[in-house]
Amino acid sequence: MTTIAFPSRTSPRRIARELLEARARTFLLTAPLSDEELRAQHDPLMSPILWDLGHIAHFEELWLTQNLDGPIEFVEMPGLFNPFEHPRSERGSLPLPGLAHCQDIMAEIRERVLQRLATADLDSAHPLLRDGYVYRMVLQHEYQHNETMLQTLQLKQGRPYSPASRFAIPSAPPSWSETGRGNMVRFPGGPVVIGTSDRSVAYDNEREQHRVHLAPFWIDLHPVTNGDFEAFIAAGGYSVREYWSDAGWKWLHDSGAAAPKYWQLRDGVWLTRSMDQVGPIEPSHPVCHVCYYEAEAFARFAGKRLPTESEWEAAASWDPESGIKSSFPWGEDAVTRDLANVDQLSFGTAPVGSYPQNVSPIGCYGMIGDVWEWTSSDFQPYPGFESFPYKEYSEAFFGSEYKVLRGGSWATRPGAVRNTFRNWDYPIRRQIFSGFRCARDA
Ligand SMILES: [Fe+2]
Repeated sequence: MTTIAFPSRTSPRRIARELLEARARTFLLTAPLSDEELRAQHDPLMSPILWDLGHIAHFEELWLTQNLDGPIEFVEMPGLFNPFEHPRSERGSLPLPGLAHCQDIMAEIRERVLQRLATADLDSAHPLLRDGYVYRMVLQHEYQHNETMLQTLQLKQGRPYSPASRFAIPSAPPSWSETGRGNMVRFPGGPVVIGTSDRSVAYDNEREQHRVHLAPFWIDLHPVTNGDFEAFIAAGGYSVREYWSDAGWKWLHDSGAAAPKYWQLRDGVWLTRSMDQVGPIEPSHPVCHVCYYEAEAFARFAGKRLPTESEWEAAASWDPESGIKSSFPWGEDAVTRDLANVDQLSFGTAPVGSYPQNVSPIGCYGMIGDVWEWTSSDFQPYPGFESFPYKEYSEAFFGSEYKVLRGGSWATRPGAVRNTFRNWDYPIRRQIFSGFRCARDA
């Protein structure tokens, strides 16, 4: 069982185990793929998976050898695998090495990393080494690329992807019913703590911890389900102008969308493709692969709105009675696949409410795992933000172009999600494992 997030203490030995475990997962995901499938650019939005592999290795080399041994260069790696030199849409035409060569590079770099790690002083004042931060940054980078690879595999057409390993998701719990849908819980408002001051695992954009005063609001107990979304479609939701913002209406016109990505209507029945399987949509599962504008339109249809990211984080982490903030909805225990639908090998969403312990102090279910949840907030720095250790992780993306998503998905590794974790993307993106829940002013 993977137990990674927010360690109280760490050691080179534990980090070495986690590095090995991360790499084993990367190769588990790529094992069923042929050389051509690894090399192909399956969609202009995504890199060839071979590029991800080379990039994972060179990012590790940059941060866990070069930057620890020499003067710290806060730059991404140069060359073929530098994301800033080669946008995703061009990576299919790069002269990428074959899989065997890529694996050799990964192994050679890893050997040097483990040698360096054996004598690493994690108590040092070195800003990268202290509390093992830089190792956790590199681990999270590999986890995050694993999720990116799964987005690519979901986009891939042709020969079905058959996972090398898969675990079962729970079936709908008896407590879930049609009447449970859309139910909300009230958050009383007041001062709440947002973000974290942790420096062992949290990214720079999660800091500094600060107080925000929230007005009272209502928030959905569960993420919006496929069944809810089907009702929106049936009510003509994609053609009612007033549900859509101007930008959303423009996107709708440009994209021609009439349902979530991967949905198809066959003989009056909505089907969806989830990895290699096409089947009827499951009404009790959270809706997935919707963009921000679709989430916003549904919320208006439902007489609600999307939560701000502070509201989302308060609903996930804040106990209004005790004034205590937790790292995860259920408390401080690290994320495991028993607690939430995370860690990839379910290869899909689970019925809402399937994980009874995945509940926050105010009673919101499923805030970690299943689907990333769109919030209404732009990706902006917190007060007192300081870029660390490089500007290109967060700072380069701050602004009004990106919307924040929270909570991780089924495709997120447990070490890459927590209540304070902030993800961001363009509001038009749907290849990500994105859903939402709604809120309302109280
Ligand atoms: Fe990267």
